[in-house]
Amino acid sequence: MTMAQHNKAQSKLGLINEASRADIDRWIAKYPPERKRSAVMGALRVVQDQNKGYLTNELMDAVAEYLDLPPIAVYEVATFYSMYELEAVGKHKICVCTNISCMLRGSDEVVAHLNKRLGIGLGETTNDGRFTLKEVECLGACVDAPMFQIADQYHGKLTPETIDAILDGLD
Ligand code: FES
Repeated sequence: MTMAQHNKAQSKLGLINEASRADIDRWIAKYPPERKRSAVMGALRVVQDQNKGYLTNELMDAVAEYLDLPPIAVYEVATFYSMYELEAVGKHKICVCTNISCMLRGSDEVVAHLNKRLGIGLGETTNDGRFTLKEVECLGACVDAPMFQIADQYHGKLTPETIDAILDGLD
């Protein structure tokens, strides 16, 4: 096997599907050509969404390859920010803010209600794979505390009743 064939065999680029490439290219286009690496956060988000909400080493390698970055630079970002998942998550990831404003306005009750309703604790996934409960830091929506995020949607001023209505409305 020639070196070129070997490198091709090692390439992970094929793991990024066409739609994701188009999305990543949109991120890349936001930055000057020499700052292509700045698209790493957006690119990780894109491939995470492509892969049912979590990243694998192979996908991170693919992003590194796509952005001409050393894999370690991508791993560092993926492990630093809480929005990236390195293990499988449920279909719906509920990110509950327990930071100061939300705590003062009842995030304990929000968490307790979710624990009771879903039968799981923070950091866990329901057996049917529908829900993952995750504790997160301030999401910048303190004015609506207590709040949580599901997918791209923020839900604020939560009460047990509104939480039930939100979860009932999910597929
Ligand atoms: S403290 Fe919860 S959104 Fe800011």
